[in-house]
Amino acid sequence: MNTLDLVTYGPVIPVIVIHRLEDAVPMARALVDGGVRVLEVTLRTPVALQCMEAIARAVPEAILGAGTVRSAADAQAAKDAGCTFAVSPGYTSAIGQACRAIGLPLLPGTATGSEVMQANADGLFFLKFFPAMQAGGIPMLKALAGPFTDVVFCPTGGITLETAPQFLALPNVKVCGGSWLTPADAVAAKDWARITALAREASALRG
Ligand code: 3PG
Repeated sequence: MNTLDLVTYGPVIPVIVIHRLEDAVPMARALVDGGVRVLEVTLRTPVALQCMEAIARAVPEAILGAGTVRSAADAQAAKDAGCTFAVSPGYTSAIGQACRAIGLPLLPGTATGSEVMQANADGLFFLKFFPAMQAGGIPMLKALAGPFTDVVFCPTGGITLETAPQFLALPNVKVCGGSWLTPADAVAAKDWARITALAREASALRG
């Protein structure tokens, strides 16, 4: 899989934090039912890897990725848990090499021209722009489009249902990421219907 294939499934990649293993499968199922197949489950909770394993087994339609991949060990664990791609909050050549070595496609985080250049030097041209709002938002993405004509971004961080269309309208943005599809209160209440509705709304977004 090439990470750029991820943009063909829809305009939004949900960034997911799962605290209870029992929520993993119903949450993934709710998102897929709402038309969102690409899921980024972050390695931010003790149960994250078990959640990935459960989703990979029970929701095969999901294109499962691991978020918050910060080391070679994270990348290997994510792959072993059934993830088919990795997302990192930043970029180093070490993480690029580690993912390449195990055949795990990487969507690396970048926020500056230097980071974009480093990723490009390592053959990566589809990049997360993170943290999108804090790192300059739409004006920064427009500025990066000047020198980096061959780079496509997935902005993530501070994006909402309301602001996503403005990001998606940029020529160098093909998809954006966000946590708004899985609100903590909906998950706590096991309100999977609400998550399906949020996924449906997100799937229908256009730039
Ligand atoms: C994150 O770091 O959790 C992601 O970038 C999502 O950010 P958000 O919660 O602002 O959408």
